[in-house]
Amino acid sequence: MKILFVTPECAPLVKTGGLGDVSAALPAALASLGCDVMTLMPAYAGMQVHGVLERTVDVPPQGPWPAAQLLQVRRSGGVLLLLSCPALYSRATTPYAHPAGASPHVQAQQFGLLAHAAALLGSAASPLGWQADIVHANDWPGGLAPLYLHQRREADASCARSVITIHNLAFQGVFPMDVADAVDVLPPHRSMHGAEFWGRISMLKAGLQYADAITTVSPTYAREILEPAHGCGLEGVLHERRGQLLGILNGIDTQVWNPSTDPFIVAHYSADHLTPKALNKAALRERCGLQSAPGPLLGLVGRLTEQKGVDLVLAGAEGCLSRGAQLVVLGQGDAALEQALAALAAAHPGQVHCTAGFDEGLAHQIEAGADCFLMPSRFEPCGLNQMYSQTYGTPPVVTRTGGLADTVQDVNARLTVGTGFVMPQATQQDFDAAMDRVLTAWRKPLQWAALQKRCMVQDFGWMHAAQPYVRLYADVLAGQCRAPVRG
Ligand code: ADP
Ligand code: GLC
Repeated sequence: MKILFVTPECAPLVKTGGLGDVSAALPAALASLGCDVMTLMPAYAGMQVHGVLERTVDVPPQGPWPAAQLLQVRRSGGVLLLLSCPALYSRATTPYAHPAGASPHVQAQQFGLLAHAAALLGSAASPLGWQADIVHANDWPGGLAPLYLHQRREADASCARSVITIHNLAFQGVFPMDVADAVDVLPPHRSMHGAEFWGRISMLKAGLQYADAITTVSPTYAREILEPAHGCGLEGVLHERRGQLLGILNGIDTQVWNPSTDPFIVAHYSADHLTPKALNKAALRERCGLQSAPGPLLGLVGRLTEQKGVDLVLAGAEGCLSRGAQLVVLGQGDAALEQALAALAAAHPGQVHCTAGFDEGLAHQIEAGADCFLMPSRFEPCGLNQMYSQTYGTPPVVTRTGGLADTVQDVNARLTVGTGFVMPQATQQDFDAAMDRVLTAWRKPLQWAALQKRCMVQDFGWMHAAQPYVRLYADVLAGQCRAPVRG
């Protein structure tokens, strides 16, 4: 099967969150299962690509689309197709930021062009001489691809089938309706039965309406998004398409996130040889200017947004610190949260450290050096950090939601079962109660070490996840996509 994996980010080239990690690992896992996979992403300005440039292919201008080029690069992880169009991808900031003063038309075209190129590669007119059987779009930046394939199918019955994966329903790519011509959404698809969303165009909704199958990144989130509380206004569309909606839990790249080989950490360790983890804690404390303390070192890495429940950590921090805990945070995002974290660190020198920014190495060092990882998310489609932290013997505190519910088993009162501290809801009361359980468990070193080992012996590798994708592609190609939400 020829699979085109379409994404706005791919680690280590461009990464803002978990989609970057998934885009690096899933195509490689699919290839190891025999799929012929190419990964399509924009060639952002300033991107450092290590690999062999195999060829450069022109994408001719067409309708509203400017001329572009595809750079085919072979890397150890597989084949990358970088879509080069300096007029649209000239900025050097995050993939989702727009150049100052850019019109909504230009903004919409940035990812519209990505979807257009994807559909072209899934059609008989593919300029590569390689035509995808399945175009696998990810999140709203790929959302128009299933619509474009649908539009092309009238003239080209050989067009690829499409799958869209929802990594986060909260981001939808919504633009004014008057961009419709600029992104080539034909009039029949501008209604509420198509890409229209409250008078505007939603790229994600387009994907949900026209894809042959819809997946999301955990079985629990697949159920949650059918309800208004997590459906972000698209629960009705998802309900209509629930026969084609499937939750497939993400995996993690165990080559990149492995405490026995990780090049970012000072001491390697494993479930059978946990002692060196303490050296990573000492190194992290030193790097972050923390003194020694009797309590656990708590770690948090992530986008600082309402989703991640950082406000619960802020409000609950004093109580933990007064009981001897310490806190290290790495994150960027909401300015008010960044400021509140900086103020907390300033009020507790030697006990709290906060790095604002994006730092891959420090993220690994926190996973390895912390004793307990905090992830009290309000919602979490899958979440990778809680799987990383368990792999690194750093039991997480999580909310029972989305992929967190599917990957962390709550510890029991005797600490003999479970891999983390699960909060029933993302409330202050539940966070404080979970932290009380952490601080009590921390005083029982033998039971804590057994908890760490239970965390580390789990297998979160991608093979479990890649196989259901391959089965889904085959079902879609056979015209038999029946994917009742299951968990
Ligand atoms: P999300 O995709 O919602 O941000 P995930 O847990 O799925 O959450 O994935 C987040 C990924 O991004 C992890 O690999 C995490 O280490 C990384 N990450 C998030 N924020 C930062 C940061 N400030 N610095 C380094 N890595 C980060
Ligand atoms: C999104 C979600 C996160 C998920 C990631 C990768 O960013 O917020 O929960 O793990 O995508 O699928």
